[in-house]
Amino acid sequence: MEPSLFDPITLPNGTILRNRLVKSAMSDTLGDGYGNPTPEQGRLYETWDRGGVAVSVIGEVQGDPRTIEHPGNLVLNPQADFGAFRALAQRGQANCAALWLQLGHAGALTPGWVGMPKGPSALDLDGLRCDALSLSEISALPDRFARTARLAYDCGFGGVQIHAAHGFLLSQFLSPLFNRRQDGYGGSAKNQMRLVIETVEAVRAGVPEGFPVAIKLNATDQITGGLTQDGALEVVAALDGRGLDLMEFSGGTYFPGAPASSDAVSRGPYFIDFAKMARQMTTVPLMATGGFKSRRQADAAIRSGAADLIGLARALVLDPALPTTWRTEGHDPLFPRFEEAFPGGVTARYTQRLEAIALGAETITGASLADAISALADRSEGQKQRYFKRLVQQAAFP
Ligand SMILES: Cc1cc2nc3c(=O)[nH]c(=O)nc-3n(C[C@H](O)[C@H](O)[C@H](O)COP(=O)(O)O)c2cc1C
Repeated sequence: MEPSLFDPITLPNGTILRNRLVKSAMSDTLGDGYGNPTPEQGRLYETWDRGGVAVSVIGEVQGDPRTIEHPGNLVLNPQADFGAFRALAQRGQANCAALWLQLGHAGALTPGWVGMPKGPSALDLDGLRCDALSLSEISALPDRFARTARLAYDCGFGGVQIHAAHGFLLSQFLSPLFNRRQDGYGGSAKNQMRLVIETVEAVRAGVPEGFPVAIKLNATDQITGGLTQDGALEVVAALDGRGLDLMEFSGGTYFPGAPASSDAVSRGPYFIDFAKMARQMTTVPLMATGGFKSRRQADAAIRSGAADLIGLARALVLDPALPTTWRTEGHDPLFPRFEEAFPGGVTARYTQRLEAIALGAETITGASLADAISALADRSEGQKQRYFKRLVQQAAFP
């Protein structure tokens, strides 16, 4: 019998998800500026939980405050406010969705105001300057990810997802554009994958077997010289048999000049063909994310067996109760059309909408994408000021 969108699914570790619809990671940037959750985030994840998703993934949860992608990121390490994290875990899972943390590390894309960013290799390009991580810094990373995963478990979250997509640290190691090393972590496809594999193994070993561990990978960096589809399929094959419960496929990178998937506009799902090819390389359940706009598209991807789960980001911003809407034969979300092409503008617009849901507001302010970018920049400024204090605190407890 063909699977359907509303069938439960059992992950390899025995975890049962209530249906096939997942709220893909979105950096909501609504932390308190010290790296801790806010009541607004509680309301946001509660809204998706009530709306019927099987899993909600909180984007960009950092283990180290020195490698954030935004000052509103959550930071889960021994200095965190565990009470606030526990409260978030409870609120976001009260109605049976699982709330997973995406384990992030911005690497070369850490904002310059935090300090000089470090990635796989030193780069000095228009829009991207960073130093290279030393071998000892690299070898400490898998345990850092594992520590955050363990804290996620201790705080009551439902699982973790290792972020190895979109040009952040682990994706940088997989991408020849960022990774120009000629040591054990670069120079060949096998070496470029090494940190990702070591991280998966450390995270898996650091949490109980019943706690799901997923990964988000790029199907392609969508830029000449970046990770190709063939390269990504090799990564999928290399990750098979390493205790993962789910692989999510996305694409795009924040390397200068490349398109970001959260900014892309298209008619249909992006990575279905890749998921079909990946299916030949692994037995791990697969999730395709990107470009889903209608129930018909999501249904087709599940029924054809191309994907086991559907990752939705923008559709679930437009209608946070989309699983319920679809189950009751309601309408597909109405996607706004943007006349301007403004890099980062579409993502900023959706981030504003996330904030509106978190605040319980009906509408968002600002007419244009440029307005959206500047409104978010204003909000980030206050978070940045608070964040400096967090950095000082971290310096005292490295
Ligand atoms: C506002 C916003 C923030 C996002 N933040 C993240 C993030 O923190 N981590 C991540 O892996 N993807 C992030 N994404 C990308 C989405 O997870 C998804 O891969 C992408 O938007 C394509 O899916 P969609 O077409 O359903 O929106 C973000 C997307 C949006 C719109």
